Amino acid sequence: MKIGIIGGSGLDSIGNLVALHQKSVTTTYGEASAPVSFAKLAESEVIFLPRHGTTHSIPPHKINYRANISALHQLGVTHIISIAAVGGITEAMAPVKLVFPDQIIDYTYAREHTFFDGTDNKVEHIDFSYPYDAGLRDALAQSATALQLAHETTACYAATQGPRLETAAEIARMEKDGCDIVGMTGMPEAVLARELGIAYAHCAFVVNWAAGKGDGSVVSMAEIERNLVSGSEQVCNLLSTVLHKLT
Ligand code: HPA
Repeated sequence: MKIGIIGGSGLDSIGNLVALHQKSVTTTYGEASAPVSFAKLAESEVIFLPRHGTTHSIPPHKINYRANISALHQLGVTHIISIAAVGGITEAMAPVKLVFPDQIIDYTYAREHTFFDGTDNKVEHIDFSYPYDAGLRDALAQSATALQLAHETTACYAATQGPRLETAAEIARMEKDGCDIVGMTGMPEAVLARELGIAYAHCAFVVNWAAGKGDGSVVSMAEIERNLVSGSEQVCNLLSTVLHKLT
């Protein structure tokens, strides 16, 4: 098992991660968001890639998801834990809970979303009924329980285009669709991992109530910033435990 961690907002670097060396990886699809770090986290070896770039300069819709997943695949990564800040839609998804979703609805558009784009004159379809790896989700949930971190183990993730946040009506529609949390980077990352046979799970943390939720006031960027700090602390703790369990 070779574990890759994709860091998101608030986790462009991981506090307790010791980088041993870095490598720039070029793929058929272009450059990954940043050089990957070969690193140690609580005695476990991991490969870390910040999806928004080293200085958090790449917005969600401009991330080269294919290059990122292809780079991790080239390096032999078999399992990806993908970290992401999200908004909470349904009542249980309060800031600053951790959420390990089990389903996705994809509302993104105009992103390079597949490796099977017909360029090699082949039409290929994959099963994506259950988009996240059950073993990784279990390990995340058991670690969160052991650390007594507030978390949810079932949730449907709404992937939105960004970079703007949603309207209250869009969130109401997503709730009707069955979505519990909302973020901008979960797709096509998850499906690209599946296309290459990499086990993938999301470790999301809620940084705000989605538009029109909570007390209905506008989404506060200051609140998001505050919750990014405490959420990423929780994620760092969780990662040490989950890696210990997996490796
Ligand atoms: N919407 C979309 N993406 C997000 C949000 C949100 O409310 N919060 C953090 N990422």
